[in-house]
Amino acid sequence: MNLYKNANAPIADRIDDLMSRMTLEEKIGQMIQLPAKEGIVEENYIDRIYDWHIGSFLHCTGKAAEEIQRMAEKSRLGIPVIFGIDAIHGHCFEDKGTVFPSQLSLSCSWDRQIVKEMARVTAKEVRACGIHWTFSPVLCIGRDARWGRVDETFGEDPWLIGELACAAIEGYQGDSLDSEDSILACAKHFAGYGEATGGRDSFEADVSKRKMLSIFLPPFEKAVKKAKVASLMTGYQSNNGLPATSDSWLLREITKKQWGFKGFIVTDWDNVGSLYKKQKVARDLKDAARQGIVGGNDMMMSTDSFFENALQLVQEGTVSEDLIEDSVRRVLKIKFEMGLFDDKRHIPTDRQSEVLGRPEHWDVALDASRESMTLLTNNGVLPLQDMKNKKILLTGSNGDDVIAQLGDWSFGSMQAGHANETYHREDTVTLRDGLKKTSEKYGFDFEYIKGADVLDNGFDETDLVKKRAKNSDYIIVCVGDTIAQHGEGHDRSDLSLTGKQQKLLEVAKASGKKLIVVYIASKPLAISWVKENADAIICCFNPGAKGGTAITEVLLGELNPSGKLTISFPYSAGQIPVFYNKYTGWHSDNEDGKERYIDLPEEPVFSFGEGISYSRFSYSDLKVLTSSIKKGENPQFEVTITNISDVDGTEIAQLYINDVVSTMTTPCMNLKGFHRVDLKAGMSKTVQFTVDWDELAIIDADLKKIVERGEFEVWVGPSSIREKCLKSSFWY
Ligand code: BGC
Repeated sequence: MNLYKNANAPIADRIDDLMSRMTLEEKIGQMIQLPAKEGIVEENYIDRIYDWHIGSFLHCTGKAAEEIQRMAEKSRLGIPVIFGIDAIHGHCFEDKGTVFPSQLSLSCSWDRQIVKEMARVTAKEVRACGIHWTFSPVLCIGRDARWGRVDETFGEDPWLIGELACAAIEGYQGDSLDSEDSILACAKHFAGYGEATGGRDSFEADVSKRKMLSIFLPPFEKAVKKAKVASLMTGYQSNNGLPATSDSWLLREITKKQWGFKGFIVTDWDNVGSLYKKQKVARDLKDAARQGIVGGNDMMMSTDSFFENALQLVQEGTVSEDLIEDSVRRVLKIKFEMGLFDDKRHIPTDRQSEVLGRPEHWDVALDASRESMTLLTNNGVLPLQDMKNKKILLTGSNGDDVIAQLGDWSFGSMQAGHANETYHREDTVTLRDGLKKTSEKYGFDFEYIKGADVLDNGFDETDLVKKRAKNSDYIIVCVGDTIAQHGEGHDRSDLSLTGKQQKLLEVAKASGKKLIVVYIASKPLAISWVKENADAIICCFNPGAKGGTAITEVLLGELNPSGKLTISFPYSAGQIPVFYNKYTGWHSDNEDGKERYIDLPEEPVFSFGEGISYSRFSYSDLKVLTSSIKKGENPQFEVTITNISDVDGTEIAQLYINDVVSTMTTPCMNLKGFHRVDLKAGMSKTVQFTVDWDELAIIDADLKKIVERGEFEVWVGPSSIREKCLKSSFWY
């Protein structure tokens, strides 16, 4: 038996043996990933399994994947194919898959554990369909709400993104990649993609090396070093004039050399082709292939021309075969680690129906929806009480719209094609469903009128709402956006509520009845009117299939909301960028009440970290346990949190640090720790924070990471709003 086929031999020896048998063509094939459409690989790509020795397909699933795996098994060396998919908030491309809240929604839980559980469930469902790899999590920084993909991020803070991303990666990858419950994670989009100018998806990003090292790389570094992510995906955009795809400083110097990344890097969709076709940094497709390889990408997604061009480049000596070999070894290593050469090559397809959407998976999804619920304002109207014989009027199309509720990547994607609208209908509980189901139990009367559509299509039922409002006690208006208004290449220049939604809100308000707003959207929109006029606002973003149940529970007080925002809400698109960890400039700090914009406040409508609950909490006794630290020492703090209400609840306590004087301008404060604290009514708890020494570092003018001597301020409290935090300081 060939050594590489021996399951008991060390992986390194198996790779050496296999590499020694592979032709150049077979090696290049391992560096190619081709697409399927709606789960099926097209005919001409099927032929490529043998003539290009294709190493990977994306979006091919179930029986079709198994067929391809069997074909690959019959190839000369029988190298298994690796399949990837965008299962980014559950295995949503499958109708029966469990659909979780979007990454943005789930991030509001600030709960590593629930993020990990989401990933575990997803891994089980994905692997049962014969797929080995998800293109998740997204580590982009959501600082520009105009961008169509903000929903895919964990929000605006690099540190929190790193923490939640590690939890997701650990969940996907499990303890061992050869488990039938584990899949590869892919940290994307590497790096700076969310910073594209003006929120225009995949445009040029103004990211210097210092900015890259200070803001965009830290979450990825954590994903590589701490969570051992198996793969990274290069972004579409250019940073400072250089496409991420051809950036060998980023991919080779930083990632592979300095961080010691042992996994492999896949490009985004036809990134290599676009070096020539769109970004115009390559003379032709061959030059593009050269840049892709030299840049440091190990697998090229959906670039048909790569095979021939790579072959020629090596044959003519333009590209060293060593570079090809390094990439192929990385890909093969993962295939061996996953057991794909051995007993894990084939996944019995009958497992699929048994694993997808198991009741216990939906339990996790419901918990995730619950934890994502973020109460932004409440003048005492919530939770609804004494509901017997009361009347609730629910209006707004998002109150009963599965697609708007589940968000992007739930019904397919631009790449994989959208499935039809019945997808996930059976498993989804909208707010309308949730309220209808509970109305009997609580004895209230419930009516739903669509009232206004999210889209500008002339639909207008506001007169009917006006009429019905008269007989109602509470009006719940569900506002937000829908799938046509976000996603790849769907950016917005205007963040106002669209369609007749604003009119609907005003009609509801004019009725004089209690106005509760439920916010279901992919991103923060300009809702300052809602803040001023609603009696309560529940922010859900895209809360997943069980969102309607969770929202109903919050409304009726069965669930005490605990989410906190991970992204700021702007007054208007003109206020962007607006995020809490801003740099303080010269004409700033609101001296004498001065704002920077003459027509807008300086602060956002809602800030990072904000969120209230039915409990009330107070903070006291902030102690710096290490008032002066030595080099390498981790500063420690403690604070006491008290539930000063008579309702049990959960508070997310946040810790921010500021390097008071440094050689470079730095953000005014940065999140460096948090605790989710469960507190019974009237109880207190003292919690400790330890901040890693490394987290105190800045990137200096020479691009060196350094902790500079001096004073550091620390704030601990319920949000990034400094006035609400306790403050202290320590020295290094
Ligand atoms: C997206 C990626 C995604 C890939 C495969 C691209 O257009 O930018 O996030 O993983 O398609 O579907």
